[in-house]
Amino acid sequence: MDNQEIAQAEVLSHIQRQPGRPGDPCVMCIFGAAGDLTKRKLVPALYNLRKAGLLANDFAIVGIAHNPMSNDEFRAKISQEIKQYAGEEVDPGIAGWFAERMYYLTAEFDSKDLYGKLKPFLGKIDKDHSTHGNYFFYLATAPDFFGPVVEQLAGVGLMEENNHSWRRVIVEKPFGRDLDSAKALNKKLLRVANEKQIYRIDHYLGKETVQNILAFRFANGIFEPIWNRRYIDHVQISVCETVGVEQRGSYYDKAGALRDMVPNHIMQLISLTAMEPPVSFQADAVRDEQAKILHAIQPLSSEEVLSRTVRGQYGDGNVEGHHAVAYRNEPDVPHESRTETFVAMKLAIDNWRWADVPFYLRTGKRLSAQNTHIVIQFRRAPFVLFRDTPVNTLMPNQLVLHIQPEEGISLQFAAKVPGSVMHLGAVDMSFEYADYFGTQPSTGYERLLHDCMIGDQTLFQRADMVEAGWCVVSPVLDVWKALPPRNFPNYASGSWGPKEAEELLERDGRRWRNFEK
Ligand code: BG6
Repeated sequence: MDNQEIAQAEVLSHIQRQPGRPGDPCVMCIFGAAGDLTKRKLVPALYNLRKAGLLANDFAIVGIAHNPMSNDEFRAKISQEIKQYAGEEVDPGIAGWFAERMYYLTAEFDSKDLYGKLKPFLGKIDKDHSTHGNYFFYLATAPDFFGPVVEQLAGVGLMEENNHSWRRVIVEKPFGRDLDSAKALNKKLLRVANEKQIYRIDHYLGKETVQNILAFRFANGIFEPIWNRRYIDHVQISVCETVGVEQRGSYYDKAGALRDMVPNHIMQLISLTAMEPPVSFQADAVRDEQAKILHAIQPLSSEEVLSRTVRGQYGDGNVEGHHAVAYRNEPDVPHESRTETFVAMKLAIDNWRWADVPFYLRTGKRLSAQNTHIVIQFRRAPFVLFRDTPVNTLMPNQLVLHIQPEEGISLQFAAKVPGSVMHLGAVDMSFEYADYFGTQPSTGYERLLHDCMIGDQTLFQRADMVEAGWCVVSPVLDVWKALPPRNFPNYASGSWGPKEAEELLERDGRRWRNFEK
């Protein structure tokens, strides 16, 4: 290491030793505490937060679900789940600490009775654990319950804040099924709660690599000057999955890939990539800039939906060496299903920075490799010096933000292949998170839960952002509904999606960048 590297390593290790302040004392009340999200994501995230010193000592959890369970059974279940999903050897001291502060209520979310009981129940826990009257309600429920649960909570006064206490609600996705239902849900929530109390979660914003898009763009002086239409040819955003619909067929078949991934996760990736620098890192300053980008995305006309979008559904095939069944043969999926499991689109952002720079996006299940990345492709160099080199062998510069499973950033550029003639080859300069910062177990929910406990809404979606995302998607949903697909299934499991997705870029003289394992 040279002196600069040693100095950098010291700074990094100093930063890593500063975890931030613990969340406020509070009770976390989970609606849907017996479900998958709670055990796979929320419980391990709470464990990791406690381990990092980011949970207040005065903290308690109340689980609510319709499954009959006593407090003790709930404690035993969560202790077991911590062991199963924490991703490392569990510290028995921490597991015991959680067991002492967990409570459970068996109830249907739509029963009036529940809310009458919940208020005194929370009141007692609040006293016993000195949580200062601070409660947050995590709605890990089916979306139909989001509005009614918050209305009922407000009805018994559980959303009322005073000078000394706060009340917040975290709403999971999907936030609406289209623009109208998202607007209706916002209206319902905002009738009984304040925007500052509503935390619309998108777990993509909990990913370190997604948050790093902002750091990369705005903490470095060298990228922002070239981050515009003058230097950038196009942007590709790919969220490729190898998994199928797993056990979620009944939800997924009503949603489809477009609703499931685009108005939320992919819109976040677009807005962070394309936004203007915010004036500060205050929640509303960042979200104002994100919202501006979402509003600047041009909704597609009906003709454009036909020429600029592609949908697909997986047939059977081979994924990572294993046979995979067709979507229509997955559990809880109708045999004639016309739901899309793949979508690709070409979008335009109508502002000075991005005019004429296409943003191509795609997402799909049962693809060849799991990979989420953003490719920024720069304009080609003028060919003056390399007249004899065929144009298609001159690789354009690409900057790739690798979100997952690889986490890092790479820059592709041309270098001279050693030898007596001038031949060019594409080479990569790359940075990997793990090399500098190591890896720590994380579910992606740690930061978001902690932010809710300290009242920071930067990484949560505001009402206008959610609606702007649906404005982009709604015209596509309408055209697709009017013209049901005739050729499904149209891609094999284990491929890179339907051939029309390749053609979408080929027509413009471009190609998707794929990363195999
Ligand atoms: C969820 C979608 O929101 O995100 C799933 O409902 C998808 O269908 C998942 O698989 C992808 O998240 P991640 O963190 O695995 O990229």
